[in-house]
Amino acid sequence: MSLPSLPPGFVLGAATAAYQIEGAADEDGRGPSIWDTFTRTPGRVYRGDTGDVACDHYHRFPEDIALLRELGVHSYRFSIAWPRIQPTGAGPVNPKGLDFYGRLVDTLLENGIEPAVTLYHWDLPQALEDRGGWRVRETAERFAEYAAHAGAALGDRVPRWITLNEPWCSAFLGYGDGHHAPGAAEGTPALAAAHHHLLGHGLALAALRAEGVREAGITLNLDHVIPATGSAEDAAAAVRAETQRNLVWTEPLLRARYPETEDETWAELIRHQTFRREGDLAVISAPMDFLGINYYAPAVVRAAPYREPDPAHRTAMDNAFAGEALPGARLTEMGWPVAPDTLEHLLLSLRRRYGADLPPVFITENGSAEADTVSADGVVHDTDRIAYLAGHTQAVARAVEAGVDVRGYYVWSLLDNFEWAYGYSKRFGIVHVDYATQRRTPKSSFHWYKRLIAAQQAAPDRVRDPHPER
Ligand code: BGC
Repeated sequence: MSLPSLPPGFVLGAATAAYQIEGAADEDGRGPSIWDTFTRTPGRVYRGDTGDVACDHYHRFPEDIALLRELGVHSYRFSIAWPRIQPTGAGPVNPKGLDFYGRLVDTLLENGIEPAVTLYHWDLPQALEDRGGWRVRETAERFAEYAAHAGAALGDRVPRWITLNEPWCSAFLGYGDGHHAPGAAEGTPALAAAHHHLLGHGLALAALRAEGVREAGITLNLDHVIPATGSAEDAAAAVRAETQRNLVWTEPLLRARYPETEDETWAELIRHQTFRREGDLAVISAPMDFLGINYYAPAVVRAAPYREPDPAHRTAMDNAFAGEALPGARLTEMGWPVAPDTLEHLLLSLRRRYGADLPPVFITENGSAEADTVSADGVVHDTDRIAYLAGHTQAVARAVEAGVDVRGYYVWSLLDNFEWAYGYSKRFGIVHVDYATQRRTPKSSFHWYKRLIAAQQAAPDRVRDPHPER
C-alpha cells in the first residue's frame, strides 16, 4: 500500500479516550460518570458491557506508552476523566486523579512523545447530570473550572489542548435521541445542550489561556454531506443535514453567529428557549489555535417527510432528511461506507467556506472497525484497515497539497476499546486487545503506520508557533 507524502513537521499520532480504555472505575477517588450510569442501565449497551475494566490502561499505561514509542508517533491524544479530577464535577481537585495524568504525561515526555489532552470525551460527572447536565448553563461554568484545574496542573507539560470531543454526539445523541449517555431521548433540549457545550468550550478556552497553555482548540465530528440525487429536494435536505451536523458548531465558533438556515429548521423551537444570552457568541468565538476534526465516513442524505406532521409537536431531532447508502462503497464493521476522497472534499469545502477564518486543522481521529482475528501465525492481518488508513492519509496529503493548513493526523485508535453503545463488539485499534488476558498484539496496520511515520522526515518544527498570524 503506497505511503502518502506529508510535509516535514506534519504531526502523526494516535488517539484514545479515558472511559474507553482506562478501567479502574472505582479507584483513587474517581466519581461516577454518566457512562457508568448508562452502562449499568439494562438495554443501553450491547451485552451490558461497561468501562469498569476496559483495557486496564490505568494500570498498564507504561506498557501502552512503550507501544507508542515503538510505533514512533510524535504525539498521543488521550482524554482526562473529569470525575477523576473532580469526583462530583465541582469543588477541590482529587490529588490522586491528577497524579495519574501527571505520571502519564511525564512518561510520554520521557519517551519523546508530545501529549495532546482532550478535557471532555463524554464522561460527565453524574452529580452534574443530576443537576441538569448539559441542558443547564451551570455545567458550562463547572467545565471551565475543571479546565482551569487541569491547565494549572499540566499546562506547562502539555502543548496541545482540546476542550470538547465531538459535542454533536454528546448533545444530540446524549439529549436528542438518547443513544448515548445520559440516554435522554428528549429531542429539543439537545439544542440547549449544544449551546451549553459551545459556551463551555469558550469558557474553558479562556481558562486554559489564563493558565498559559500553548495551543488550544476543539474537536468536531464534521460530516461531508452528499445529496442522494441531483433533485432540488435532496439538495435542500443536504443543507438541513449540514446545518444540524456541522454549521451548528462551525458558524458560532468561526463566525460568531448562529447558522442562517436555522430559520427553516429550528427557528421556531429556539424562539421559545431562553438558553442563549447576550455575549455568549463572543465567548464561543474566541480565536482557537486549531480546529480538530474527527472523520470516519460521508453522510448521503435524501429528503424525507418530517416524522411528526404537526409542526407544533416537532422536536429538534426531526429534520426531514434520511440517510442513504453510498453506492459501491465497502462498509466497515460499523456499517460505515469507506470513501477516503470525501475527507479531502470536506477539507476543501471548509477552506472554501471559511477562508482565512479556518484555523489550522488537526485530524484528531480517523480509523475503521474491522472484523479482526488473531491468525494461527499470531498476526492480525487487517488489510482492510491498512487500505482505509492509506486512503485517508492520502486524502489528507492531497488537501495539504491543495493549500489546506492541516498540521497533523491521529489514528483512531491505538487500542481496541469500549466502543460506546456497541460495547466491546467493535474493534478500531491498530493494536489488538484480548480482553480476557489484556494481552496487546500489534496488528499489521500498526506496522504499516510505523512505516509511514518512519518515512516522514524528522519533525523538529512540529511544535509550531500557535499564533502565526497574530
Ligand atoms: C469518538 C470515539 C469513537 C469513534 C468511533 C468518535 O465518535 O470520538 O470515541 O470510538 O468515533 O465510533
